[in-house]
Amino acid sequence: MVKNDIVWHDHTVTRSDREQRLSQRGVVVWFTGLSGCGKSTIANELDRQLNQLGRATMLLDGDNIRHGLCAPPERLAEEHSQEFAARFGLGFGETDREENIRRIGSLAGLMASAGLITLTAFVSPYRQDRDRVRKMIQANRAGDFIEVFVDTPLAICESRDPKGLYKKARAGLIKNFTGISDPYEAPLAPEIHLDGGDGRSPAQQATEVLETLRKQG
Ligand code: PPS
Repeated sequence: MVKNDIVWHDHTVTRSDREQRLSQRGVVVWFTGLSGCGKSTIANELDRQLNQLGRATMLLDGDNIRHGLCAPPERLAEEHSQEFAARFGLGFGETDREENIRRIGSLAGLMASAGLITLTAFVSPYRQDRDRVRKMIQANRAGDFIEVFVDTPLAICESRDPKGLYKKARAGLIKNFTGISDPYEAPLAPEIHLDGGDGRSPAQQATEVLETLRKQG
């Protein structure tokens, strides 16, 4: 395919070569939900369970990725010009979140094509952004995008408030805070719907996701 003079190269080692070597199928398991809903904890536990089973995985997590690939302008300005930081740094406005999810979606897609079971844990509040990633990944192969909605009521997330962010958001100290001053668009047909307020442990919820992955091969 040629677009704007940029040409796609097919490489000698294929995705299926890589998957065969790892004896597994690369896939993206996309956790979404409010801050404090438990997505990072469940994804981390699933990662642990998969590794115990000898699977090759990668875990991409919101707070960590925003330390590098999707760093905020203030962090980029430490090593780059103000102009660069303003242009490529990402905050939490709607367009910045869109670009955050686009970058992570591309990265996750590449990891899945390397044969890795790729777990992502991002608020990813906009349906359109998540659906774009789904479309991009499924264009390569159907069934490779598994959306996991960690559906924990706002009141529970807020009562946990592990980083004190809800308190700050309620006090008006953080702008565009999801669930408080910014929207969260729940998935309409996620592959997996976890009830984050049902009292089960993160390990039990991770096992439910693992069972679905097993069923899908
Ligand atoms: S997004 O919406 O997908 O682009 O967000 P993400 O990259 O997952 O980053 C979410 C983490 O950043 C912290 N944080 C905020 N979350 C939501 N809204 C606002 N305004 C905000 N500001 C900072 C927060 O710690 C999120 O981490 P989690 O693990 O979800 O609590």
